[in-house]
Amino acid sequence: MGVEIRVEGLTKAFGRQTIWADVSLTLPAGEISVLLGPSGTGKSVFLKTLVGLLKPESGHIWIGDRDLPRLSEHLLYETRKLFGVLFQDGALFGSMNLYDNIAFPLREHTKKSESEVRRIVMEKIDMVGLVGAEGKLPGEISGGMRKRAGLARALVLDPEIILFDEPDSGLDPVRTAYLNQLIVDLNAQIGATFLIVTHDINTARTVPDNIGLLFRRELIMFGPREMLLSSEEPVVRQFLNARRHGPIGMSEEKDVSELEAEAKLGHDPGQLPPIPPQLMPTDGGVRRSQSPPGSWLKAHGVQPPPGSFIDDLGRDWVQEWPRHVASRTPVAGAQPSMGGPGR
Ligand SMILES: Nc1ncnc2c1ncn2[C@@H]1O[C@H](COP(=O)(O)OP(=O)(O)O)[C@@H](O)[C@H]1O
Ligand SMILES: [Mg+2]
Repeated sequence: MGVEIRVEGLTKAFGRQTIWADVSLTLPAGEISVLLGPSGTGKSVFLKTLVGLLKPESGHIWIGDRDLPRLSEHLLYETRKLFGVLFQDGALFGSMNLYDNIAFPLREHTKKSESEVRRIVMEKIDMVGLVGAEGKLPGEISGGMRKRAGLARALVLDPEIILFDEPDSGLDPVRTAYLNQLIVDLNAQIGATFLIVTHDINTARTVPDNIGLLFRRELIMFGPREMLLSSEEPVVRQFLNARRHGPIGMSEEKDVSELEAEAKLGHDPGQLPPIPPQLMPTDGGVRRSQSPPGSWLKAHGVQPPPGSFIDDLGRDWVQEWPRHVASRTPVAGAQPSMGGPGR
């Protein structure tokens, strides 16, 4: 389950304004990737281009042997069914209760009977933890519940790819933590390819397998989480450490004189903070694409910042990992169980 998406040399402009140019990245099948970037750098435009709502000026978006910008209307319509999208505000119909909102894509795009629709809708409502709220109107529930309802709706057509536009915007830190856990659990359960646009540094540091950063109309870097979290690249360090000092300014990028002034004062982007362990599925299983903590760093001869991979309970996950995986493998030689409800 889950498909790979290969973006090659993608460029998007509105009139004479280039939003980003020559973006290339591969979203590995079944993995979670996060796209970071200051406001206005075109992250939402990127998601809309991926699903074919906006047309790029040049470049390719390969899903298997289909190149999205070059598909006929009919094939594009078919290919769009592979995507589930959670828009920033949940994009629910205000006059419909949650049940009808979530059922909407099924009634619109399939010929399923109402009893079949009910089975699917109730299954997704259960997956996102909204059982009992299906009769409520969007205006009657909290922002966190609206996000969950939007997510349930994005799930009803069993997508291979799920795009999240700032799922944490407008949520308090506790709700964000619950939503992040739900995202990791869903990924372990359904194995679709996830791309999350976010501003939340904690989300970016703990949820994904891969991280990318858009800045100054280009994709500065995209790669495994451990690569970005140990990067010396100033923009990456500034962003992932949420610092004022660095190339990113208050409204846009700083100019050369500002950067020179900062350099004279001896400011630098600071020490790298420890790399936290990845968020794991609630049932104690492993993520589908999970490699042992620290393995990218080790393979590339990079020393992790002190205190890396230690969780809130003080356990060091580099040490803990072999035991954890062994305890998930009941029979010698068997695949570790991925777990997750409904499997
Ligand atoms: N349909 C559109 N027509 C013209 N300009 C647009 C359109 N959509 C977005 N933009 C512009 O593209 C830029 C990036 O917007 P957006 O993707 O929303 O940024 P982000 O999501 O990173 O905050 C902004 O300057 C915005 O004004
Ligand atoms: Mg946006």
